[in-house]
This record gives sequence, structure tokens and C-alpha cells, in this order.
Amino acid sequence: MFNASPLSNLPKADQYQELLVQAQALMAGESNHIANAANLSALVMTSLPDLNWVGFYFYDGTELVLGPFQGKPACLRIPLARGVCGMAARTRQTQLVPDVHAFDGHIACDAASRAEIVVPLIHHGQLLGVWDVDSPVPARFDQEDQRGMQALCNLFLQTLTVSALIPEYTTP
Ligand code: SME
Repeated sequence: MFNASPLSNLPKADQYQELLVQAQALMAGESNHIANAANLSALVMTSLPDLNWVGFYFYDGTELVLGPFQGKPACLRIPLARGVCGMAARTRQTQLVPDVHAFDGHIACDAASRAEIVVPLIHHGQLLGVWDVDSPVPARFDQEDQRGMQALCNLFLQTLTVSALIPEYTTP
């Protein structure tokens, strides 16, 4: 509809299967979170149909701070008390929002966004940030997307040297 992406013609489950293979290859051998976050954002933005914003916010111990992303410039910092991102971080639950206009407190970074999915990034019990994906198509994301996005996030988390991301982090 909005863009013809390489995986548009595949069933959704196959899109994520393919993405997981590609993401694994992209991140293999790299543990830098900025490098992997940047490439994962670019991979998803250019592979899946009907997205207008894809990227990361990382938790600095107080609030969520903008990380690597694809799309229009976005708000730099999000308190945990605000927005879909704050909700995902606070509750540690993936937020599947079919209509952002109906979500109380939604932060509109791109006026084109109509649906959103935000996955919390939790590593050994610690909040590292969130993965945020927006679409201009209402109800763009479903349970299949939730499973796929969470799988991509798990792959990302497995690559991390977390001590580089959170100075006070200690491996359990
Ligand atoms: N919509 C998000 C803010 C981030 S932008 O979508 C990139 C929110 O409500 O938290």
C-alpha cells in the first residue's frame, strides 16, 4: 500500500522467518549495541511493508533516550510515565496499539503514525530500553507481528555486551 518492500508478498510468519535469518547474519560476531541497533532498524524498515518509523530507545536509568532509528526525527527523551514507549518500559509488556489516537498519552513523533508496537528490551531482569515500530496503516500489527518483533528483539539482546550499555550492570 505505502511501500513495496522485499518481503511484501510472503505470508507474515514467513516475513519474520526471513527477517530473523537476515538479522542473525547481520549481527553475527558484533556485540556493539549501536551498530546492531542501527542495522536492525534499517533491515526492518526496508524489509517489511507499511512502516514509517522503526527504532530504539535506550533506558539511561531515568528515562528512555532515542537510539538508532529509521524514519522522521523523533522525540529525544521519553519519561517512563509517558507514551506507548513508557508504558512498555514500565509494565515490561509488549504494547500492541491498533489506533494510536485512541491510546491515552500517545506521543506523536510523526503525524502519519496510526498504529504502533513497542517491545520492552529486558536482559537478565534489567530494562535496557524499547523497540518501537510505527505504521501509517490502522491496525497494522497483530499477534503475529508481536511474536516476530519479540523474536527479533531476543536476537538483538543475545548479541549484547550489556556492560557497555549500562555502566552499573553486573552479569548475574
Ligand atoms: N509514539 C511513541 C513515541 C515515539 S515515536 O513513535 C518514534 C510513544 O507514544 O511513546
